[in-house]
Amino acid sequence: MSHTDYIKKANKLLCRAYVPYSKFPVSAIVIDQDGNEYEGVNVENAAYGLCLCAERNAITSGVTKNLKSIRTIYITGNTNEPISPCGSCRQVIAEFSTKDTKVILGSSKTDEYKEMDLETLIPYYFSKNSLDEIK
Ligand code: THU
Repeated sequence: MSHTDYIKKANKLLCRAYVPYSKFPVSAIVIDQDGNEYEGVNVENAAYGLCLCAERNAITSGVTKNLKSIRTIYITGNTNEPISPCGSCRQVIAEFSTKDTKVILGSSKTDEYKEMDLETLIPYYFSKNSLDEIK
């Protein structure tokens, strides 16, 4: 499937987001090292601080099924331009990314999408290498 097809598939998932507070649905599809797909939507809570982001729901679901690294992650929302993922999700994407990971940002409102690698998504990110420096 093309990037556009995957964004369309992710857009269809937006209706599953549980967003009674923000009314801002987000969905993500992750493809792992073996080509397996995992989906996630954001799930909010009356205690606002407990809101769960779509990207992290997709990634943690994948880890449960043997995701070791992300080949491609598609993220979409009802935004006018391709969605901008939050900083926390960028950091979690970094944890499971390689130099070949593709991050594809889409929207239900435009066919335009942005394709980027990890360094563009989150430059100078905190990583295992940072932890190893003090050993
Ligand atoms: N949200 C995500 O799911 N992913 C992001 O990258 C940005 C924000 C969710 C959290 C909350 O449910 C809603 O969007 C508004 O912030």
